[in-house]
Amino acid sequence: MTEQSPHGRGRTKPARRHGPRIALAAVTTGAVAAVSLIALSGTAHAASTLGASAAAGGRYFGTAVAANHLGEASYAATLDAEFNAVTPENEMKWDAVEASRNTFTFSAADQIVGHAQSKGMKIRGHTLVWYSQLPSWVSSLNATDLKSAMDNHITQVMRHYKGEIYAWDVANEAFQDGGSGARRSSPFQDKLGDGYMEEAFRTARAADPDAKLCYNDYNIDGVNAKSNAVYAMVKDFKARGVPIDCVGLQGHFNSQSPVPGDYQQNLQRFADLGVDVQITELDVAGSGTAQANSYSTVVNACLAVSRCTGMTVWGITDKYSWRSGDTPLLFDGNYAKKAAYTAVLTALGGSDSGGTSAGTTNGGTSAGTTNGGTSTGTTNGGTTNGGATGGGTPPAGQGCTAAFRLVSAWTGGYQVEVSVLNSGSGALSGWTTAWTQPSGQTIANLWNAVQGTSDGRTTAHNAAYNGQLAVGASTTFGYVVNGGPPPTSLTIDCQSA
Ligand code: XIL
Repeated sequence: MTEQSPHGRGRTKPARRHGPRIALAAVTTGAVAAVSLIALSGTAHAASTLGASAAAGGRYFGTAVAANHLGEASYAATLDAEFNAVTPENEMKWDAVEASRNTFTFSAADQIVGHAQSKGMKIRGHTLVWYSQLPSWVSSLNATDLKSAMDNHITQVMRHYKGEIYAWDVANEAFQDGGSGARRSSPFQDKLGDGYMEEAFRTARAADPDAKLCYNDYNIDGVNAKSNAVYAMVKDFKARGVPIDCVGLQGHFNSQSPVPGDYQQNLQRFADLGVDVQITELDVAGSGTAQANSYSTVVNACLAVSRCTGMTVWGITDKYSWRSGDTPLLFDGNYAKKAAYTAVLTALGGSDSGGTSAGTTNGGTSAGTTNGGTSTGTTNGGTTNGGATGGGTPPAGQGCTAAFRLVSAWTGGYQVEVSVLNSGSGALSGWTTAWTQPSGQTIANLWNAVQGTSDGRTTAHNAAYNGQLAVGASTTFGYVVNGGPPPTSLTIDCQSA
């Protein structure tokens, strides 16, 4: 199906968004039974990207995208490898699309929409009615004119993308901070009064009935005066049949505004009003474990709320973040995955090891830098390993060594990667590793190997597909532990089969 836009631009709509991922899940579910893996997410090979991991749970994982960076190879490659939804960071705002009254410019936004569609990504539209990034001609209109300019803006922009936008932020940041619960002053509020909001939502529904219509704001992450005011508005809209489908919680967190303790509860209370909730602009100032933990908390809260349909981070790389000094994103300035990345992926049920010996490279997309120890501030166990010990003598020349590496740690858990190296002089057709789990720490999920026990120790032997190792070759497996603290090193014995 192709829509010819009013501007002569044809776009091919994605036929299937998650087809290949669903197929993969079905195949790997079979593999679970075959090798008796314990899998939290229901797939043996946990997905190895943010988007695929979220999709396995029926959600999207998106990012804000700036059109002017799409030409940068690492930017586009990381976007395409990791994310399955986009939000144009600035390109759909009023000043970008209608700088002069009734003259619409969609070129930059179209670039993002076209890119996203070619990759089967969902698109969030951001944003239609907002006091900021608003051209001065709008502010100078009288009430009658302003209402018709607002309706025209919503109608023209939404029609241009009709059928192509998953959810629109119809209104953005319309409430004041602090305890008043009042509406924020804006040309719309000041000249049209509270009623402009439902006018905007009704106009939006008429313009594109298939798009979900969201109210989006910041500092509404916990239960507070501002979120109470938004809650009351949504409740009123639902009661009176004013069309609203979702609430977007921006999720800009820092030390002054950390993830609130009642975050999940707050998401749930909105969902209980009969709207979806989405985390729309997530970023967390900081670094290392603290940052990673905040990200995990947000992801886990969304996953725990069935109507939380997806999460979007506000940018790909720290270097292009709107708050780049806060290093708030999942990839550093060189597109290396940060501890926060691993925490999000793990929370989503994914795994960086992803079934290849490449293990922690970032999806072949960019620098290929490994993550874990360096950015978490946690100790990287690295080289501790043991040779072949116990349980019989392997054939001459055969041997393996196993090395422990702490990938990431968070409150109450951590993730380990074990690399198994054929350190002998003959090919290996199988291997078994063994180690002593720290007491009280249980393995929640192990992948790319088959878990067992022997003499009170934990064992993991090769899966069907990674037992054969040429001389000098290596493979990896991984596991997640419930409990802590993580050991700084761990002796893992390895024996050839
Ligand atoms: C920000 C963009 O990231 C910046 O590039 C721009 O200069 C200002 O706007 N809340 C929102 C987003 O809804 O649109 C804002 O985006 C960040 C705060």
